[in-house]
Amino acid sequence: MKKILVINGPNLDVLGKRETNLYGSETIDDINKALQKVSVEKKVEIEFYQSNHEGDIVDKINETDAEGILINPAAYTHTSVAIHDALRAKTLPIVEVHLSNIYAREEFRHKSLIAPVVSGQISGFGKDSYTLGLDALIGLLKQ
Ligand code: DQA
Repeated sequence: MKKILVINGPNLDVLGKRETNLYGSETIDDINKALQKVSVEKKVEIEFYQSNHEGDIVDKINETDAEGILINPAAYTHTSVAIHDALRAKTLPIVEVHLSNIYAREEFRHKSLIAPVVSGQISGFGKDSYTLGLDALIGLLKQ
């Protein structure tokens, strides 16, 4: 079975309590359950990882033996050369997802340092960004 690593960056641990007008009331556990359901249907294995710390996310990317990565880098999307470099070094399909439409928000969110080193990005569909992203990632793994 192909293994996919799902990475959630800073503050996504408090999803459901944080700015619910923007991010909705569902928690990271709710999202992970939806992804787990897709993984059973599509016969892939998922490892879930969340961290509020940039270096820990870099370590996780460098150490993973997964064959694909689904990542919401959260605020690090807009700042992290370190996560950009770690993902860039991986020759794996990688899909970047965002709950909100980052291009419809403040200007500092319009730039993703991660986008140039991923296969594709899905932004603005709430929890569905993750399931759509996983579906797209599985499609890439099958190619
Ligand atoms: C986010 C968008 C980022 O700009 C923000 O810092 C987040 C969440 C999203 O999923 O919409 O923490 O990645």
